[in-house]
Amino acid sequence: MWQYLGYTARLRRIGPRLEVTLGDITAECVDAIVNAANETLLGGGGVDGAIHRAAGPELLAHCRTLGGCPTGQAKITPGFGLPARSVIHTVGPIWHGGSHGEAELLASCYQESLARADEVGAASIAFPAISTGVYSYPVAPATQIAIDTVRSTSTKVELVRFVCFNDEALHAYRAILGPMP
Ligand code: APR
Repeated sequence: MWQYLGYTARLRRIGPRLEVTLGDITAECVDAIVNAANETLLGGGGVDGAIHRAAGPELLAHCRTLGGCPTGQAKITPGFGLPARSVIHTVGPIWHGGSHGEAELLASCYQESLARADEVGAASIAFPAISTGVYSYPVAPATQIAIDTVRSTSTKVELVRFVCFNDEALHAYRAILGPMP
């Protein structure tokens, strides 16, 4: 999006509006929700399990046709029984102490998810706190990567909502974004 800044016709790119909320991402009425999946894309626990339960068995049947997804990449599917039109499945890094490229792979998850959203014209997207559950990525650095990457990635997405499932994640996002309306 571009904003006209006055007579001198100075235009600067303004990125998506950022929001943070506490809740269940499967209930989000946005164009796309992001799933923190594993490389098989065949479901699991955490948000992956919740999304598959809410979407219904058609999601797994569709995912079986995708041939998996490497860590740091993202693939998009229909949302099936979810309120969201699409699900963007991305695979975050497992935390191994921080010296195995984890930060770059996590940033790539956000970049690639926005790229899949742009490919289908999604104007709104909801992210979970990727890798901060089973994959044990520390919440504070993961949150900083999420926000910095979304802010620095060129995208046509207009609304990015970070959906936290616990107070730890919510406080981490609010510590950076400030109190949200
Ligand atoms: N809505 C929003 N966020 C959720 C939900 C939900 N319904 N359920 C869990 N979360 C949060 C967790 O609290 C955590 O903050 O999502 C974040 C990511 O946690 P995980 O779902 O465990 O994902 P991740 O850490 O990336 O590990 C991925 O776990 O479930 C398996 O198949 C998945 O193997 C993969 C691994």
